[in-house]
Amino acid sequence: MEPQGARIFAQPLADWERDGLKASLARAGLPADDVDDPDLLFWRFESDDVPAGFAGIEIFGQDALLRSLVTLPPVRRRGIGTAMVAKMETEARARGARAIYLVADDNAPFFARLGYAPCGRDGVPPAIAASAQFVRLCSASASATAMTKQVCAPHGRAGRIGSG
Ligand SMILES: CC(C)(COP(=O)(O)OP(=O)(O)OC[C@H]1O[C@@H](n2cnc3c(N)ncnc32)[C@H](O)[C@@H]1OP(=O)(O)O)[C@@H](O)C(=O)NCCC(=O)NCCS
Repeated sequence: MEPQGARIFAQPLADWERDGLKASLARAGLPADDVDDPDLLFWRFESDDVPAGFAGIEIFGQDALLRSLVTLPPVRRRGIGTAMVAKMETEARARGARAIYLVADDNAPFFARLGYAPCGRDGVPPAIAASAQFVRLCSASASATAMTKQVCAPHGRAGRIGSG
């Protein structure tokens, strides 16, 4: 049966909470070395008053990089990752982003379900391709896949763009 959307509570991550994010990223095998950068935007998520995960975005003009997405292992496969991505899309759109990029790996099917399509590294805007997070993720795995989704279509409707 198709799960209903998870009910989550999002809170901007305070500077002093970033160690918890770092630990969760390390456990998930995701890079955490730039998490102390005050310009990066992170949120922590709760579900039913229980810590559920983290996510972040970096804004590059009209493009955003979705990063540091992690659902805490005990609460995976309950729709929390899906809900966190939706929240990051809303936050990116509110900051003027029209397209979101990310680097997927064996989790690419998760993002494909949410409307993200492979775009090839050549299809990534130069500022994002040069970002520390993007470079790090792409160099960490030969199977790293750049994916994108348009979040502000011409008539205000979010939509999917084709793979390139
Ligand atoms: C990827 C991740 C965020 C998904 O979080 P989640 O809360 O389990 O996601 P959801 O419950 O919303 O998943 C919805 C659907 O996506 C699919 N899915 C979830 N995780 C998946 C994965 N790792 N690979 C492939 N498909 C996946 C499943 O079909 C799932 O539906 P189902 O449980 O009915 O089969 C989580 O597995 C995670 O934190 N992984 C480690 C860190 C990571 O890879 N982050 C992404 C960095 S780009």
